[in-house]
Amino acid sequence: MTGVQKYIDRGMEKLQSEMARKQMMKTKRFDTIAAHGLYGMEDAMANQGSIMEPLTVSPAQHFENSDHLEAALSYQTPAWGYTRIHNPTLHYLEGTLALLEGYGSDVETSAVMTSSGMSAIFMATNPFLQAETDGMNFVADAKCYGGTFMLFDERYQNERGIDVRWVQDTANIDAWATRIDDETRFLYVEMPSNPSLTVADLEPLANLAHDHGIPLIVDSTLTTPALMRPICHGADIVVHSISKAIGGSGSAIAGAIVAKHHIPSRVGTDEMRENFTGYVKLWPMRDHGTSLSPLSAHFILNDLRTLRTRVDVMSKSAMRVAQFLEAHDRVEAVHYPGLRSNAGHATASKYMWLADGDESGSAVNRYGHLMSFMVKGGAEAARNTLDRLQIIWRATDLGRHKSVAVIPAISTHQQQGEEGRELAGIPANLIRLSIGVEHPADLMDELDQALR
Ligand SMILES: Cc1ncc(COP(=O)(O)O)c(C=O)c1O
Repeated sequence: MTGVQKYIDRGMEKLQSEMARKQMMKTKRFDTIAAHGLYGMEDAMANQGSIMEPLTVSPAQHFENSDHLEAALSYQTPAWGYTRIHNPTLHYLEGTLALLEGYGSDVETSAVMTSSGMSAIFMATNPFLQAETDGMNFVADAKCYGGTFMLFDERYQNERGIDVRWVQDTANIDAWATRIDDETRFLYVEMPSNPSLTVADLEPLANLAHDHGIPLIVDSTLTTPALMRPICHGADIVVHSISKAIGGSGSAIAGAIVAKHHIPSRVGTDEMRENFTGYVKLWPMRDHGTSLSPLSAHFILNDLRTLRTRVDVMSKSAMRVAQFLEAHDRVEAVHYPGLRSNAGHATASKYMWLADGDESGSAVNRYGHLMSFMVKGGAEAARNTLDRLQIIWRATDLGRHKSVAVIPAISTHQQQGEEGRELAGIPANLIRLSIGVEHPADLMDELDQALR
């Protein structure tokens, strides 16, 4: 046996033991997985007994000898090597998030953390835009987050000439179907969308994508895996802005890509199809350098442990606030999928369930922490309302423990211009409101005084 082979064999043993840990954790409930994840007692013994995952800030690993170095750097054995590609803190976070996104199904999932939600979206889409052909295109939800709109419109369409085919009526499957042709590389949808809270029917959308041999990519930042796991409904790739509810304490900007294994794609290698996030981590991300800092990963691991409970509390409060706003005489309309009056209510009720149900274990729908509402009296009235807030922060943020509000037309969706906002359905009097963990009665008093 060569010296290199010794390290390859050692790596194989490590992978097998990690696989056993994953299988064991797959038998546990959501909160248990979120609390412990991939990090077990065997890992702790290799980490001075620490019951918490290590925060490893070292950029690089020391190797036992040149054989170990060669085996690691040729990716033949798992190692930490260099933090841009591998790091223990990131590894435990990725493993835990992958388990949570696959929760409740037997689908095999893997994850890769990125430096922001935007870099997750870039890294999840760019690999499908290789091998350029005439007419290369993708079909995307026009109601997506402003940053995503700009990436697709400015960087992909205007700079690279890629045809971005926008769908305005997200719920209409025919609107997606008629835009797909032989050069379409993927479908991209936000569920629900920020800030109009539009809801997509994921299962027929996934079937449509698969009929054409292409993947469905879903941004489910607003639900988090505590409420919805798109991969369990047929989606291939999920992207998150981890900066939001998953990292609810507000300690870091971060993103993640989670993918099931064996995804369809018209381009790329078998390796890319077999384990998309593994491929992204080892190859494109090595070169684009969009990795997350271990310190940020450490903060997020700690937030992740309480995700389901926080999302439950925030969703219940959001429901009360949405009902209050709907009945308010200064409010023109409220967009919240939990309201019966919402066009997407039935579809949202199909997909958005609190993992493991309520205290008694009964299945319950929860509709998330984000809503938006239109103030009567136009743009000026919306600005006046925002300016009178005293507890709810005026900030371009959401998913936080603290409630936050913003006017998208002059902030998150300002740069896409009048035409882009029209496409995305963002009127000037729309306020986006993210509900935190405060007492909902205080939030309703606050909104009432601001509206009056
Ligand atoms: C739905 C959604 N996706 C992606 C992003 C981008 O995430 P980040 O700000 O972490 O880059 C955001 C940010 O607001 C978002 O709301």
